[in-house]
Amino acid sequence: MSEMNLDLSAVLFDENTIRNRILDIGAQLSIEYKDKTPILICILKGASLFLCDLIRSMTIPLEIDFMSISSYGSGTKSTGVVQIRKDIDTDIHGRHVIIVEDIVDSGLSLNYIMDYLKNHNPASIKTCVLLNKPKAHKIDVQIDYVGFDVGNEFAVGYGLDYAEKYRNLPFIGILKEEVYS
Ligand code: IMP
Ligand code: MG
Repeated sequence: MSEMNLDLSAVLFDENTIRNRILDIGAQLSIEYKDKTPILICILKGASLFLCDLIRSMTIPLEIDFMSISSYGSGTKSTGVVQIRKDIDTDIHGRHVIIVEDIVDSGLSLNYIMDYLKNHNPASIKTCVLLNKPKAHKIDVQIDYVGFDVGNEFAVGYGLDYAEKYRNLPFIGILKEEVYS
């Protein structure tokens, strides 16, 4: 057992549960995007593990790209101030875009990314998020594919961090409040 486990109050989704859910989403995307060669845009860093497993569960030709925005710093609350740290390299004009994000909390980050990418005139744009916190949304946000809905606890592991740590946990857990309060 890893020493990081001591900082968790519970396991939310174990490796098997995550794998099976991603296989389902990948199968669904493979049907819906057949002959469309979608471009999956991974929002760094949190969605990186999700992207890697998701594309390996897809059986159609596709492309990937990466984008990084600033949102949380090292805290646990969204500032609402979003800034692009790394832009995409691909010309997405006329392409079918799928934004791959780790988690939607207030919805501000995903909404910003969505508006930004829409300005590049893609043929279509959808969002695929591993975790969704429906009770935390502050705005109406478009979520097309979702791994799991969760409560307002702070989740870490499988790419999700707190202060850049815990991303390497192979499962998703709830961080004890005492660790961040
Ligand atoms: P939003 O803009 O409030 O929706 O925040 C989304 C971003 O905040 C995500 O991409 C995560 O990086 C981070 N975030 C929100 N909730 C959590 C959480 O429970 N664990 C880890 N990161 C989170
Ligand atoms: Mg993120």
